Amino acid sequence: MLVSAKEMLTKAKAGHYAVGQFNINNLEWTKSILLTAQELNSPVILGVSEGAGKYMTGYKTVVGMVNGMLEELNITVPVALHLDHGSYEGCLKCIEAGFSSIMFDGSHYPIEENVAKTKELVAICNEKGMSLEAEVGSIGGEEDGVVGMGEVADPNECKAIADLGVTMLAAGIGNIHGKYPENWKGLSFETLDAIQQLTGDMPLVLHGGTGIPADMIKKAISLGVAKINVNTECQLAFADATRKYIEAGKDLEGKGFDPRKLLAPGAEAIKATVKEKMELFGSVGKA
Ligand code: 13P
Repeated sequence: MLVSAKEMLTKAKAGHYAVGQFNINNLEWTKSILLTAQELNSPVILGVSEGAGKYMTGYKTVVGMVNGMLEELNITVPVALHLDHGSYEGCLKCIEAGFSSIMFDGSHYPIEENVAKTKELVAICNEKGMSLEAEVGSIGGEEDGVVGMGEVADPNECKAIADLGVTMLAAGIGNIHGKYPENWKGLSFETLDAIQQLTGDMPLVLHGGTGIPADMIKKAISLGVAKINVNTECQLAFADATRKYIEAGKDLEGKGFDPRKLLAPGAEAIKATVKEKMELFGSVGKA
């Protein structure tokens, strides 16, 4: 059964480790992540972006697929199904469809509007026993070839949002989605420290987990980060393994590639990436 992310993140923050959020795009990714979490006895969060939700034909399909896998694969570790960077409307759709957790990304609104919308969603999530992630300070990344550096959050705004009763808070600290540019200045630990001092026990979320050096990840966890999001690294591993398989030319003697065999190396590569991250984040054995 899907669970809210609240309990796993409260435990992670108290135990000084982080739970990984791995984004899913299809059946193979989902299966690989769930099997790895079970094998390593680790809690896990499956992230679904609005685009990935559309690709998989809608949130109801995603809920059906994940619930089916939990049962058929005998998954017993805590699993949360979480909307990643949701719009207000997207959040309502996921609540309706049966997700157990949502992120409302109101970081592009003026803080008053972010507060107002987050407040409404806190009330709904509390009633339904779901977890809610809010965001302050935008997280940069590549969009149309332009790499945004990511805004550093104002710790007082973080406190204002945390005080609304959200489950977890994503705060921009110089992190960006995708690969980090050569001239990246690194994470702002000063900001993270100030945010943690003002928000106390609130589990903090680090987006853009791909390409952050291990020592920075460990330091972020020591300063209150309890959830780390990873997407691009799984994409790179999946694409690389699939490309190598095709280049090796193992098709069915002119009949094309067996789709199950074609996607198997990518699925294995995702398992290896997820394992490496869970070990780094310290969530192994914490289910
Ligand atoms: P990366 O794609 O950089 O791993 O970031 C993932 C993320 O933060 C999803 O919200």
